[in-house]
Amino acid sequence: MAKRNLISVLDMKEEWPDLVDLAIKLKKERYTHGALLKGKTLLMIFEKPSTRTRISFDVAMTELGGNALHIDASKIHMGQHSETVEDTAKVMSRFAHGIMYRAYDYKVMDKVGESATIPVISGLDNLEHPCQALADMVTIKETKGTFRGKKMVYLGDGNNVCNSLMYASAILGLDMVACCPASRMPNAEIMLGAARIADANGSKIVASHDPKEACKDADILYTDTWISMGDDTPVNEALKLFSMYQINSDLLSLAKDDCIVMHCLPAHRGYEITGEVMDGPQSVVLDQAENRLHAQKAVLYTLIK
Ligand code: CP
Ligand code: NVA
Repeated sequence: MAKRNLISVLDMKEEWPDLVDLAIKLKKERYTHGALLKGKTLLMIFEKPSTRTRISFDVAMTELGGNALHIDASKIHMGQHSETVEDTAKVMSRFAHGIMYRAYDYKVMDKVGESATIPVISGLDNLEHPCQALADMVTIKETKGTFRGKKMVYLGDGNNVCNSLMYASAILGLDMVACCPASRMPNAEIMLGAARIADANGSKIVASHDPKEACKDADILYTDTWISMGDDTPVNEALKLFSMYQINSDLLSLAKDDCIVMHCLPAHRGYEITGEVMDGPQSVVLDQAENRLHAQKAVLYTLIK
């Protein structure tokens, strides 16, 4: 069978329900699958810092019996003035069974995905963060039991995380409101694509600029940093743009009583979310972080077993 990538959520569109269920199963059966990826090696290339993605992929490979190798992109030859991205990807394919890549530019990510003869999994680029979205969907299924009829409101910057959440929500039948300032809406093409998938699937992906209105009756409030890695928006500018989108107790009080609060982390307390809400009883941010591990296992097993 031809190798496959997970660079966009859409690359594994058909498998999303199974990936969510497999992650939940692997979570329940933790430490009992030590031979699933025996002898397999994952190369993890990072152009940007990472805590959760790096650790969860590494631990996932270890717990499944394989091995993960961390590579700082600035310390290898890959790049414009050195070995081409394509050549690097082809060489890496002779050493290992999968590549996990955190990149600045989705175009470079796509080049690696096209040139490598082994599966390439995105650990985030400027367009998407599919593995984050999978862990988030696992967390939602665990806490809410279902996606159908549930409403998630994403507040703040319409970034890579928001883009992948729109695709994942549309595929799984979760209603989602992308509530962002007009100048920081999610990628228009992705939003349109997600809305079309949702339409065919009986759910809704819609935009809003009004947090108070959007949060009414919400089952899930979600936020991410106002300034992503590689974004040079000054902090004072971000404060002006995004302050009204902060998840705080006032906004949370407009949602359903059993609404959960999500953040992919790292969080900036006092900016996109207050410490009070993040540490409060409705927050599931640490479950989300842990679920990165179980979600990565589901992806790794499906793509490189
Ligand atoms: N959420 C997430 O991807 O975190 P890291 O940047 O720490 O990997
Ligand atoms: N949107 C953030 C996510 C970090 C995990 C970023 O790209 O920096």
